[in-house]
Amino acid sequence: MTILVSVSGLSKTFTLHTQGGTEIDVFDSISLDVRAGECVCLHGPSGAGKSTLLRSLYANYKPDAGRIAVQHDGESIDLVSAEPWEVVDMRRRTIGYVSQFLRVIPRVSTLDIVAEPAIVNGVPSEAAYATGRTLLSRLRIPERLWSLAPATFSGGEQQRVNIARGFMVRYPVLLLDEPTASLDAANRQTVVELINEAKSRGAAIVGIFHDEEVREAVADRLFEVGQSLVRKPRRSTAAREAAA
Ligand SMILES: Nc1ncnc2c1ncn2[C@@H]1O[C@H](COP(=O)(O)OP(=O)(O)OP(=O)(O)O)[C@@H](O)[C@H]1O
Ligand SMILES: [Mg+2]
Repeated sequence: MTILVSVSGLSKTFTLHTQGGTEIDVFDSISLDVRAGECVCLHGPSGAGKSTLLRSLYANYKPDAGRIAVQHDGESIDLVSAEPWEVVDMRRRTIGYVSQFLRVIPRVSTLDIVAEPAIVNGVPSEAAYATGRTLLSRLRIPERLWSLAPATFSGGEQQRVNIARGFMVRYPVLLLDEPTASLDAANRQTVVELINEAKSRGAAIVGIFHDEEVREAVADRLFEVGQSLVRKPRRSTAAREAAA
């Protein structure tokens, strides 16, 4: 199958400037290919760098080295060196991302939040709202909530609105950060079905799933993300002399 995402030599270090320049080497020289129709599950202990890798695949974080080649419009584009306008275009049409938490926009209704990704892609509003309603029903969000802004919704309701939004567009690449973390069994099952439907239409999926049952139902393979390394800053000679 076609490789839709090809990560090579990817490294990321965070420097905590407000904490004496402490450095956290999150990952070093990661390589990973994700093919159309497969779901790769990022695996590893808490703090290993799973979310950091996923955010890098959405260009939320800029890696220090390496490439993230993504198939976009039949071309391979490196997300690490892409221009900001290219990143925006890739996020609109090619790469979907379901974050752990919904970013609530005050006064915007649930249905508008869900339908928006399709509308910005030029889908007529009738069709976009119809798909939005179907997704909200499948995820068991009661119809009486659809016209309300989700600011006051429960954690699990907000997460389901976020999932509905993430599945509005048939993105070729889909990134999922613990989409089932606060869901009940029935809704977890719906999310498993949505993921498997996306796989069968050829989406390349990278996800983090803490729930073992969900992982087993969707993941084709696990990708181990190692333990991050925290380093004290390397002080310059001048700084050492000043401290002496
Ligand atoms: N924006 C940031 N600035 C500085 N350090 C960060 C930042 N984001 C993450 N880190 C650090 O990078 C490391 C990896 O964090 P990350 O959130 O990627 O872990 P994770 O594997 O997703 O963990 P969990 O399973 O708990 O969600 C942690 O040590 C964390 O403190
Ligand atoms: Mg995480």
